[in-house]
Amino acid sequence: MITAEITKDVFYVGTNDRTTTRFEGIWPLPYGVSYNSYVVKGESKTAIIDGVELSHAFEQIAKIKHIDDAMKVDYLVINHMEPDHTGGIVALLHAFPNLKIVGNAKTADMLKGYYGIDKEDIITIADGDTIDLGGMTLKFFLTPMLHWPETMMTYVEEKKVLFSGDAFGCFGALNGGVVDNEFDVSYHFPEMTRYYSNIVGKYGAPVQKALSRLGSLPIEYICSTHGPVWHEKVAEVISIYDRLSREECENGVVIVYGSMYGNTAQMVETLARQLTLEGVRKICIHDVSYSDESYILRDVYTYKGLIVASPTYNGNLFPKIDSFLKSLVLRGVSKKVFARLGSYTWAGVSSKTIDTMVEKLKFETIGQQIEMKQGISSCTIEQCRNLAKEFAEALNRE
Ligand SMILES: Cc1cc2nc3c(=O)[nH]c(=O)nc-3n(C[C@H](O)[C@H](O)[C@H](O)COP(=O)(O)O)c2cc1C
Ligand SMILES: [Fe+2]
Ligand SMILES: [Fe+2]
Repeated sequence: MITAEITKDVFYVGTNDRTTTRFEGIWPLPYGVSYNSYVVKGESKTAIIDGVELSHAFEQIAKIKHIDDAMKVDYLVINHMEPDHTGGIVALLHAFPNLKIVGNAKTADMLKGYYGIDKEDIITIADGDTIDLGGMTLKFFLTPMLHWPETMMTYVEEKKVLFSGDAFGCFGALNGGVVDNEFDVSYHFPEMTRYYSNIVGKYGAPVQKALSRLGSLPIEYICSTHGPVWHEKVAEVISIYDRLSREECENGVVIVYGSMYGNTAQMVETLARQLTLEGVRKICIHDVSYSDESYILRDVYTYKGLIVASPTYNGNLFPKIDSFLKSLVLRGVSKKVFARLGSYTWAGVSSKTIDTMVEKLKFETIGQQIEMKQGISSCTIEQCRNLAKEFAEALNRE
């Protein structure tokens, strides 16, 4: 059983989920996920910060009791109401009957709706409020839309510990280590980008707002609700979030295509070879029928270039390309060096449909629309060569 004292009187009591195959029913969890929960013990009062998912409630309670079986718990601070962090609270209230829930006005509304908990039973805090635990002061920062309207963060001033909710979280269960200096966290970094792009990506502006507010705080530990506790890598993790929320990407290209019979795929293979000859050194190719969108989005948030290719399908796009483009629009992805290609047999609409779908995004679109009729020809190869040249130049421009 993992419990850990992160720093004196701040404990980890979260749980690992290695059996849920898709987070939110959508995003694959090849390495599982952790639901992080913490205990902060002051001289006079004790608080639990964040809860766990419903089926993990008894494990969390056992861990809290494992710290000190006679411990009286006074508060449950809910930084985020999403059920992966609150599913277990009814059991928690049963185990610790004196527990008072701490949240903001928006938390209160959701507690009533999800769990029938009345406002009178909640301590409602406002931005900047504090609760004194005796030698440990909890200070609350409202951080709306990171990632729901009620989200907030809790900071322990004396210990310089930030309980950040979903922010700075990542997929991947904790395999024995809790704090980043206890284990190799290298596989958690791509999982952080995947988590950000899948879950938080739409909320780049609220992330920037939160980062500017937190900028003045000295932070020794970031305790998020998923993944490792950050200590040695606090600065690195803040800078990853800063870059992701500003959509500042690495030099490289993601090519996303759909193909039924291989003709569109042929164009993509040709284009990728030409991009390589033009000096592009990082090219990720995803066949949208085989790569899970979760990983495609991760790569879109990693690299500056994006090329989308689709056959015409019933007067529209290949359905999975349509769905992928909608995901980009939903997240308001911008700042891409972008190109598109299409194929058809009797009336091609792919390239122009792609252009219409992304017109609200601030892409720098490179080259003419390419619409290949039937099989690949020397003319298409020439078009791909020209596009690759222009695309590589645009990528290297700044
Ligand atoms: C189900 C289906 C629907 C299609 N709809 C259209 C269409 O509306 N207009 C068109 O010009 N071609 C249409 N096509 C032809 C494809 O766009 C064309 O064969 C293209 O080369 C397929 O590319 P692929 O080999 O990469 O799958 C359709 C093909 C299929 C199988
Ligand atoms: Fe969440
Ligand atoms: Fe979460």
